[in-house]
Amino acid sequence: MKTKKILITGASDGIGRVTARELAARGHHVIIVGRNEAKTRRVAAEITGKVDWMIADLSRPAQVKQLAHDYQNRFECLDVLVNNAGAFFSHYGKTSDGIEQTFALNHLNYFFLTDLMLPLLIASNGGRIVNVASEAHRGCELDFDNLNGENKYSGWRAYQKSKLANILFTRELAKKLKGTRVTANTLHPGFVASKFGHNNAGLWGPAVRLTQALFAINEDRGAETSVFLADHASVANTNGEYFDKCRARKPSLAALNDDAAVRLWQVSEEILTRFR
Ligand SMILES: NC(=O)c1ccc[n+]([C@@H]2O[C@H](COP(=O)([O-])OP(=O)(O)OC[C@H]3O[C@@H](n4cnc5c(N)ncnc54)[C@H](OP(=O)(O)O)[C@@H]3O)[C@@H](O)[C@H]2O)c1
Repeated sequence: MKTKKILITGASDGIGRVTARELAARGHHVIIVGRNEAKTRRVAAEITGKVDWMIADLSRPAQVKQLAHDYQNRFECLDVLVNNAGAFFSHYGKTSDGIEQTFALNHLNYFFLTDLMLPLLIASNGGRIVNVASEAHRGCELDFDNLNGENKYSGWRAYQKSKLANILFTRELAKKLKGTRVTANTLHPGFVASKFGHNNAGLWGPAVRLTQALFAINEDRGAETSVFLADHASVANTNGEYFDKCRARKPSLAALNDDAAVRLWQVSEEILTRFR
């Protein structure tokens, strides 16, 4: 078996942590990204196999750029990028770059890191990009006049739209990747009892915990589709699909809107111009 170099964001906890553990157990070299050094070091130490760690606040494009730069200097090649870091913010907030935090972390981070790592993935013998989205994408459309959430903000709506953006981005990316040996796919991990949502004050935190205790699957099962898309031979040539429980599934009609995908790509490029 060929050992792959696999970069996994949001791997200091939850689904990303288990994804890293499972891929390392299969003999791959995993490079985990967290934002808290002590916690990320601890998680790396718990993983059996070849593991390295890196630190970045992925809601800050300058730190995404620095991460990509440092990765290229340290590791030189990359076979799989798993964009997994994400969060739900019940209250409106902007990063210090002036970008709404859900959009910055859940979408722009995937978009920018992928773009910066693409030369290494293209140089790999069959690179893969795995973008963790969600079934939460259903029931909404992107509002290009309010991407920064300034006119009206609902935390859940912002989260839904960011996950819709993950699928639109992946589908457009897959088209652009035709002619290379790199594939891009996206997935729903299931409703998972991770730390997801626990960051929120007030009733949101306890409400999420209770719902998870009643209905959620554990993190091991939550990581299965990410591991499958990162490593399984049967999906080596699959490109631009949305997966749930390791099977391709049709996403919402809004996620199949090619015009929205093109527009999102253009807007994302424009926002990121000042960070290049
Ligand atoms: N849990 C679910 O039911 C569910 C369902 C559908 C989709 N998802 C998606 O699955 C992905 C993983 O979520 P999870 O459930 O595993 O959540 P989680 O347990 O909260 O883990 C999130 C990970 O992202 C990291 N992270 C958060 N903000 C960051 C930032 N600004 N910069 C860098 N890293 C950051 C966290 O770091 P720390 O360790 O420092 O907090 C952690 O490693 C997300 O994209 C989420 O949207 C989850």
